[in-house]
Amino acid sequence: MRSHWSNRWAFIMATAGSAVGLGNVWKFPYMTGTNGGSAFVLVYLLCVALIGLPLMMTEIMLGRRAQRNPVDGMAYLAAEAGGSRWWQGVGYLGIAAGVLILAFYSVVAGWVLDYGLRAASGSFAGMTGAQAQGAFLDFLADPFELLFWHSAFMFMTMLVVAKGVTSGLERANKIMMPGLIAILLILLGYSLAVGDIDRSLDFMFRPDFSRITPGAVLSAMGHSFFTLSLGMGAVMVYGSYLQRHVSIARAAFYVVLTDTAIALIAGVAIFAIVFANHLEPASGPGLIFQTLPIAFGQMPGGTLFATLFFILLAFAAWTSSISLVEPAVAWLIERHRLGRARAALLVGGLVWLLGIAVLLSFNAWSDITLFGLNFFDQLDKLTTNIMLPLGGLLMALFAVWVMRAAHAQEELALNECNYRRWLFVTRYVAPAAIVLVFLNLIGLLPLV
Ligand code: TRP
Repeated sequence: MRSHWSNRWAFIMATAGSAVGLGNVWKFPYMTGTNGGSAFVLVYLLCVALIGLPLMMTEIMLGRRAQRNPVDGMAYLAAEAGGSRWWQGVGYLGIAAGVLILAFYSVVAGWVLDYGLRAASGSFAGMTGAQAQGAFLDFLADPFELLFWHSAFMFMTMLVVAKGVTSGLERANKIMMPGLIAILLILLGYSLAVGDIDRSLDFMFRPDFSRITPGAVLSAMGHSFFTLSLGMGAVMVYGSYLQRHVSIARAAFYVVLTDTAIALIAGVAIFAIVFANHLEPASGPGLIFQTLPIAFGQMPGGTLFATLFFILLAFAAWTSSISLVEPAVAWLIERHRLGRARAALLVGGLVWLLGIAVLLSFNAWSDITLFGLNFFDQLDKLTTNIMLPLGGLLMALFAVWVMRAAHAQEELALNECNYRRWLFVTRYVAPAAIVLVFLNLIGLLPLV
């Protein structure tokens, strides 16, 4: 008998916990910065609404119907519908994507842990922009420090995974998520008072289509998958622990709304600080580590708020990271009869090793590049821009072309009108959008 969430809220919290993470507070702001601001935000919001929400429903639906890990689940659903066994490839693709994502996710989560300690020691007080930047660059140059924190974060992740999803995390999630939102609002309040909020809003929301490039469109679409944890089976495996009677549409809606709101709040607050301090919005993955210390360093009670902020962000990363390996672990347990602890150790060990290559790409191996990107960027682009949209595309196609409509509807339990909408979007809109963005990228369709 597989374990299940204790109730609807536990599922929503866990899925929101998976969705809300470094993607919202670290990645969304820096990608908005490097991709020119508002145009990126607009495409991202369109992708969230048009592809993200229906696909979230689809992925939960597939998982709950299958009641299995993504590999066996896809095989089972394909068999039920008389489709090919090859569909289990979607599960393998997802497992691979999860391992590759966690390899760099854990390194960045390590930065967050380190910054939590720095914050607590009061080292942000009175920091200037140049100092914050210098401190971050020095930090990246030290592989041993990075390794220490990467190892610590992987240890935390695998510990929870080894214990099983439902016990510890379910409860902790309920306290930490509102905490993170509260501190983000405090940060926003600071930005409103001291930051350059007008320029921030302008940068993020005033449409400027001259800045849309094929690369930016692809990144925005990829990010909509990344931030919602879609396309790799994380949501599918969480859905497989969901009880029968819960409304999938409502759960998906709450998760998408929460995730998007947190990203937008973080973005507005951070860019207000960037502009007020004459920093560079396009500075890349170090953005929050170079801006937030300045803001917290000037704020009354900044040491306390900064410490809390990084602890809560580390927690948000933690609730996300476990969902990145849960498909692989569930597959090892259910298909290969491994114990949970051993499965967690195996997957965690692999990710840990890959993560070492990632952290070295910031220092010792920084000149090993492909197309001008180091290993960290390569992994990020490969997973976010290619593997996740591809996984999502295949899931959508499977749900509407292979699965029987009656089975999908039995799980979704939508009213006639909403069912037609879901069907239309999943059948035509989402696949067409994903394919167009891919074609456009490889230059076959010079749309923008
Ligand atoms: N969504 C998480 C974030 O924004 C990261 C994440 C967790 C994820 N599980 C995932 C991304 C599955 C892609 C697929 O930080």
